Amino acid sequence: MKINFDKIIDRAGTNSSKWETIQSEANAYIHVRAERFFGEDAATPMWIADMDFAAPKEVVDALTARAKHGLYGYTESSLTYKRSVADWMKSRHDWDVQPEWILNTPGVVPALAMLVRAFLKAGEKTIIQPPVYYPFRLVLEFNEIEVVENPLVYEGSHYYMNIADLEQKARDPQTKMLILSSPHNPVGRVWTRDELARLSEICRANGVLVISDEIHADLTFTPFIPFGALDENTIVCTAASKTFNLAGLANSNIIIPNQTLRRQFEKYLFQNALADTNLFGRLATETAYTHGADWLNQLLDYLSGTLDFMEKYFAESIPQIRMIRPEGTYLVWLDCRALGMDASSLHRFFADRARVYLENGAVFGTGGDGFLRMNIATPRKVVKEALRRMKEAVNSLEEKK
Ligand SMILES: Cc1ncc(COP(=O)(O)O)c(C=O)c1O
Repeated sequence: MKINFDKIIDRAGTNSSKWETIQSEANAYIHVRAERFFGEDAATPMWIADMDFAAPKEVVDALTARAKHGLYGYTESSLTYKRSVADWMKSRHDWDVQPEWILNTPGVVPALAMLVRAFLKAGEKTIIQPPVYYPFRLVLEFNEIEVVENPLVYEGSHYYMNIADLEQKARDPQTKMLILSSPHNPVGRVWTRDELARLSEICRANGVLVISDEIHADLTFTPFIPFGALDENTIVCTAASKTFNLAGLANSNIIIPNQTLRRQFEKYLFQNALADTNLFGRLATETAYTHGADWLNQLLDYLSGTLDFMEKYFAESIPQIRMIRPEGTYLVWLDCRALGMDASSLHRFFADRARVYLENGAVFGTGGDGFLRMNIATPRKVVKEALRRMKEAVNSLEEKK
């Protein structure tokens, strides 16, 4: 069945974070409710990472049928749930996962916070690779773990890991963990086998536990290597939530091949009575993994088409902005440094003058100033109109000169 990703679906009144809240100026991480994304002259929200596309029909049908049943008492995972996750990892990423390696948490960010608490003590150190998904820093800081930065290197239009710097930082005996964003949000890298193997070697040699956040793994345009397929001494955080637009259903799969690590995390979950998730989240995940492959292939084609359009448009019509074409994720990292604005003015400029509400690159930490992140998981018509308005806004700067 051909999926119509061009269809505009009105999200008004659904309490959508993307459409009905904004990030406050005072504290970039607190969301405030606002009605500014609806109506004639409203800005287009292209920030927080969810999609304006409906989930696969099979998922909607399964949830609807379950909701109509009317009884929502204590409900176990289905006997086939973990098998469906393992089968997906095998068919999509050629990774052999045993169903018993999988534990559930109500989201990947909650899992990161729990992992930090389960495996680290206050004062210990964890490496992150900024500019990176900002909750990595937050969960560490909230739990009094010292953040050690191994900033990515930006060369031309490509990002790399700084391996020499990583080697040095991993050597510190207080450094116990590294949180990897794979694929990398926001720069869109899909790490190669060689890059991951090098990182694994360094971390293993220094007793640094790698937590690999692979929530965007299915949304990749080049071959993706699950970290766990290279190195079994790791904890891989996955979910169907980005892939199929299910984030509000709060369910994720934490895959821990190593039995000792798994027991330690399981113990933490039981100690905190956290070992259960929502029945709808699990049902949606299993249904999507069982029936969603074709939908996802079509989504990836659609996103690729949007990226082709954008790449050409930026090059020809807004050459002042350099688009870093993502190898994975539906998030596009825009190098706007040539516009010469500080981070906050840049973000505000596009919100006010182009009426496009993007994510301020500065929130991703070191290396983020002067960049913006654009979420393109929306009908192409919306992306085209946003770019047209961005072009007009940038041209108005030139006219002023
Ligand atoms: C790298 C990364 N990890 C985790 C999340 C959020 O995960 P969850 O909604 O499961 O907490 C996001 C959402 O944007 C993300 O980009």
